[in-house]
Amino acid sequence: MTATRIPVTLIAGDGIGPEIMDAALAVLEAVDVPFEWDRQVAGMGALKNGSDPLPQSTLDSIRRTRLALKGPLETPSGGGFRSINVRLREAFKLYANIRPALTIIPGGRYDNIDLVICRENLEGLYMGFENFVAIDDDPHAVAMATGVNTRQGARHILEYAFEYALANGRKKVTVVHKANIMKALTGIFLETAREMYEANYKGRIQFEEVIVDACAMKLVMNPWQFDVLVTTNLFGDILSDLTAGLVGGLGMAPGANIGADAAIFEAVHGSAPDIAGQGIANPVALILASAMMLDHVGLQDKATRVRQAVSDTLNIDQVRTGDLGGKATTRELTDALVQRVRNG
Ligand code: NAI
Ligand code: MG
Repeated sequence: MTATRIPVTLIAGDGIGPEIMDAALAVLEAVDVPFEWDRQVAGMGALKNGSDPLPQSTLDSIRRTRLALKGPLETPSGGGFRSINVRLREAFKLYANIRPALTIIPGGRYDNIDLVICRENLEGLYMGFENFVAIDDDPHAVAMATGVNTRQGARHILEYAFEYALANGRKKVTVVHKANIMKALTGIFLETAREMYEANYKGRIQFEEVIVDACAMKLVMNPWQFDVLVTTNLFGDILSDLTAGLVGGLGMAPGANIGADAAIFEAVHGSAPDIAGQGIANPVALILASAMMLDHVGLQDKATRVRQAVSDTLNIDQVRTGDLGGKATTRELTDALVQRVRNG
């Protein structure tokens, strides 16, 4: 019997969101979690109902629960409203975006991948300080963006990365930057990393510096040389899709947004409009994000059961969705996962 219920805000999201969220909820229910779901809307789902894409009730819910499981939210490119994901991160100061890449299915392009990207989640070029300058009759003649990185912001995520590495028995922290070109914007991040390492972490863990473009090449050529990578917002966004590709694709990559005021768990991938509504999306990324949430609330045993069920279903039962080379529907994979959790 579970004593206390844990309230969690639930946002199914756009595109494949509702399909994979149903799958995640079925798996969590099978593992008998004490979560009390508070269903809220955001993104296109909210817009269609005629409300703000980030309704006040959703913000109020997360302010109360301080915990959310979220499906992907569609963001229009070019014009349109500002990313709800970015607004949520700002609203709850979710400064650390933790994105592990772990091989679950052996025999792919790469075996035995086990690395973690710690991405600064609030600053850099994501702040949206952008504008066009008109020249003559072209309103978009010039485009400008201002990135902002602060010493304090760098400290927050760097401390998180170093402490995470130590707490999880990791050997090395790699700071990824472009301080050779953006000497101020990413120089401050590198400089802060060096200072913090010298002051607090030297002798306790290895530390190295890599420039982002070389890092991309190294991640493809020899990803095993990395352990924990810590970087600024945009680089972390790009490299974490790359590292998802090392472990079977976006369908396998979970993420946690951790902050002072809340924690929001989600998949790395987006709303996958190309396959939405077809019942073929891979729910594993969101399910692994749920496992990260179980860890976060101290239910490590249940998290382990979920991860074991994922591995057994994909590898022993060989039930896989199309992105993993299989033929299973979301529903069939979910049923197999639930079976595994129940028997596990
Ligand atoms: P995407 O991640 O949605 O899709 C990229 C490719 O991966 C597509 O071919 C898609 O079918 C495939 N894919 C993604 N997740 C999958 C899954 N679970 N199973 C099987 N295949 C999967 O990226 P895209 O198309 O660039 O973005 C679509 C929308 O999602 C955009 O509006 C974007 O802003 C938004 N987005 C939202 C995120 C969030 O809510 N955290 C993160 C990334 C993008
Ligand atoms: Mg991304």
